[in-house]
Amino acid sequence: MDAIEYKPPYPISLDIIKEKVAKRNGNNHIYAKPYNHVYSRGKLYYPNVKKQKNNFGETITRVDGNIPVDLPVENGQSFLFISYDQSALTHGLHKYPAKFFPELPRWLINRYSKKNDIVLDPFSGSGTTNVEALIYKRNSIGIDVDPFSKFLSKVKTTQLNVEELKYSHEELLENLTRFTSESVNDKDIPNFPYRDNWFQKEIILELAYIRRSINELKVNQYLRNFYYICLSSIIRSVSNADNNCTRTVIRKKLNKNIYPSMALTKFAETILLNVPKMIEFSKLDLNGITAEFPEDNDARKIKYPNEYFDLAITSPPYANAVDYPRTHQLEMYWLGLANGSLTPLKRKHVGTESVKITDYQKLREIGISEADLVIERIYKKDPRRAYIVYKYLWDMETNLNEVYRVLKTNGRYIVVVGNNTIRGNTFENWKYIMKLSQKIGFEIESYFTSEIIRHFIKVPRTERINTDWIIVLRK
Ligand SMILES: C[S@@+](CC[C@H](N)C(=O)[O-])C[C@H]1O[C@@H](n2cnc3c(N)ncnc32)[C@H](O)[C@@H]1O
Repeated sequence: MDAIEYKPPYPISLDIIKEKVAKRNGNNHIYAKPYNHVYSRGKLYYPNVKKQKNNFGETITRVDGNIPVDLPVENGQSFLFISYDQSALTHGLHKYPAKFFPELPRWLINRYSKKNDIVLDPFSGSGTTNVEALIYKRNSIGIDVDPFSKFLSKVKTTQLNVEELKYSHEELLENLTRFTSESVNDKDIPNFPYRDNWFQKEIILELAYIRRSINELKVNQYLRNFYYICLSSIIRSVSNADNNCTRTVIRKKLNKNIYPSMALTKFAETILLNVPKMIEFSKLDLNGITAEFPEDNDARKIKYPNEYFDLAITSPPYANAVDYPRTHQLEMYWLGLANGSLTPLKRKHVGTESVKITDYQKLREIGISEADLVIERIYKKDPRRAYIVYKYLWDMETNLNEVYRVLKTNGRYIVVVGNNTIRGNTFENWKYIMKLSQKIGFEIESYFTSEIIRHFIKVPRTERINTDWIIVLRK
């Protein structure tokens, strides 16, 4: 029998990595443009729309790819949208919980606004709405309290110099092949809580080396930030934490396979996949259209004048489902966006679980009978959770009021929300949001459902979100 060849993990082989990425890139989808109906033998016809039955025998409307701008929609209708563009252009640079599939904001932007309009996303997350607004020549503002969200969205909406991208990524890749453990100094390694539990020793050295290599590139800050996002996108997968959980947690049973050279290899693959996408995005003619992510704004306090926006589109957080600061805690530590306790940041989040004991001493009412019934039922089992839910609705009412104020008359606010189960009670968020909107003065133009095609991150099974409701509100 042949002796097993010993293969040291370093230096990594760029040739092997390039070959692997070239195979993956072969399947790349070309970003498509939305289209309208076509006429066939004098009949109106949508080539990518068809009726089918879902798993419960109900009729749903399936739309493959781009959603026709003028697609007729009935109240309560169920759609199954199949998305192809989740990693087109800059959309796939980084995972983000409950991210829009790009075809949805694309459709809404084209349906409800025109070129040069100003679009708002008050819970902008990873900036999907803003990327689509740019592509379709609408100015946009994205508001989010999370520093990681703002960092990521800025990178996804900033065009870069193509030549600089080309030479800097080659330089970066070459540098990865020169890694040795000894070449990393203590000062290259960030300090953060439980660092040595989250990461294996070799991985810490590799990540520190990559970060230093990015810092040493002679490029502008925008390009450097793009590479930081590439670094950030591999952090969860090379950590000891579960890749598929919203919270950053280590599960011993997982037996995650982490090996020396893994961070260097994954980073090289990511660069090779993302640079061509960034080049494609950077070549778009944006015609002076901008996407901005202002500091010190909050979905509940939008620092813009009355009647400023033509359209608003958003997917707010779910009550009690995703703890965003904990989702990205390791990424934030490596990017220098956080270094200690996350609690002050958590408190800013709509849907936060960081509440004080004094807050839930008594039962509170939001003034919507159906919601108050559920809050009361939850209160009997768990007063703290009842308060979290009450506070969520209160915050959403404040947001609806703010968006009403900053929207032009006749402007739409489109809210995409899911239902979840809280303490055994179905929390029909869409119904409560509709009631709150009407109270404020919005007219409900339409509402329909979209089945979620791909949830990249799992939420605990009992609190799973199945279907999104899309509510079109009009001022
Ligand atoms: C469901 S995500 C949005 C995802 C987004 N549609 C996308 O495609 O990436 C909800 C976002 O709301 C943000 N958020 C929570 N509380 C907020 C607040 N008070 N003001 C603004 N944004 C907030 C969270 O940080 C999170 O990024």
